[in-house]
Amino acid sequence: MTGAVTLITGGASGIGAATARRFHRAGGRVVIADRDTAAGEALATEIGGLFVPADVGDPEDNTHAVNATVEAFGRLDNVVLNAGVPGRCGLHDFTVEAYRDTLRTNLDGVVYGLHACLTPLRRQGHGSIAVMASIAGLSGSPDLFYATSKHALVGLARSAAPALAAAGIRINALCPGLVDTPALAPHRRALRDRGLRLADPDAVAAAVEAVLADPGTGQVWTVQAGQPAAVVPATEVPLAAD
Ligand SMILES: NC(=O)c1ccc[n+]([C@@H]2O[C@H](COP(=O)([O-])OP(=O)(O)OC[C@H]3O[C@@H](n4cnc5c(N)ncnc54)[C@H](O)[C@@H]3O)[C@@H](O)[C@H]2O)c1
Repeated sequence: MTGAVTLITGGASGIGAATARRFHRAGGRVVIADRDTAAGEALATEIGGLFVPADVGDPEDNTHAVNATVEAFGRLDNVVLNAGVPGRCGLHDFTVEAYRDTLRTNLDGVVYGLHACLTPLRRQGHGSIAVMASIAGLSGSPDLFYATSKHALVGLARSAAPALAAAGIRINALCPGLVDTPALAPHRRALRDRGLRLADPDAVAAAVEAVLADPGTGQVWTVQAGQPAAVVPATEVPLAAD
C-alpha cells in the first residue's frame, strides 16, 4: 500500500472511512469521493488526503473524481466502489422514486465508477478494483431491492473480470455481513439482542486491503465478524449443448 493511490467512493463514513484511515496508516495516498462534504473534507484533512464532492449516481461526478485523483497524484492504483445505501422501499410500500433512488446509488453508482476509472487504469496497464456488495448479494434479504442491487454487483464483478484481465485490471467483490457503521446504528441494539455479531469496520478495511492485493480476479469474498475473509466458490452451470 505504501505510495499507492486509492480512490474510495462513500469514503466519508463507516467502511469507506475505516479503509481510508487504514490505507493512510499504511503509507498510501487516499482520495475520498462522497456526497457528504462536511465529513469527507474533515477526514481528508485528518489523513492528508483529497476530498472530491461526488454523487456516484451522476456519471459526470465519477469522471470528475477519477480525473481529480490523477491530476493530484499522477496515477490511480486502487478503486474501492463502496458508496451504498439501504433500500428505501419494498414490495408493499413500493414507489418508483424510492426504488430508483436505491438502485441509482447501489448499482448505477458502481457501474459509473467502474466505467470512469477504466481510462487511466487501461493507460497504466494495471489497477485493482474492489466492489462493495454484501452477504445480501449472495442470499436473500427482507430489504429486497438492497439485496437485488448487491446481487447485481456480484454478477458485475464476476462478469467484468475476464474482459478486464487482458488490460491488467482486476475486479473483485466483497460481501460483508453485519458491520458496526452509522448505516446500522438504528438497528444495532436489536441485532445484538438477536445474538448477531457486528464486524468492526477496520476488519472489513483489512479485507479490502487483502482483496485489492490478491492476484485473483472475478472473485467474491465474504467478510464476517470473527471469521477470516473467504472466497465464495462460483456456481458453474454449463449451457445445454447437443
Ligand atoms: N454496514 C453493514 O452492515 C454493511 C454490510 C454489508 C455491506 N455494506 C455496504 O458497505 C458500503 C458502506 O456501508 P457503510 O455501512 O459504511 O455505510 P455508511 O452509511 O456508514 O457510509 C456510506 C457512505 O456512502 C456515502 N454515500 C451514500 N450515497 C452516496 C452517493 N449517491 N454518492 C456519494 N456518496 C454516497 C454516504 O454519504 C456515506 O459517507 C455500502 O455499499 C453498504 O451497502 C454495509
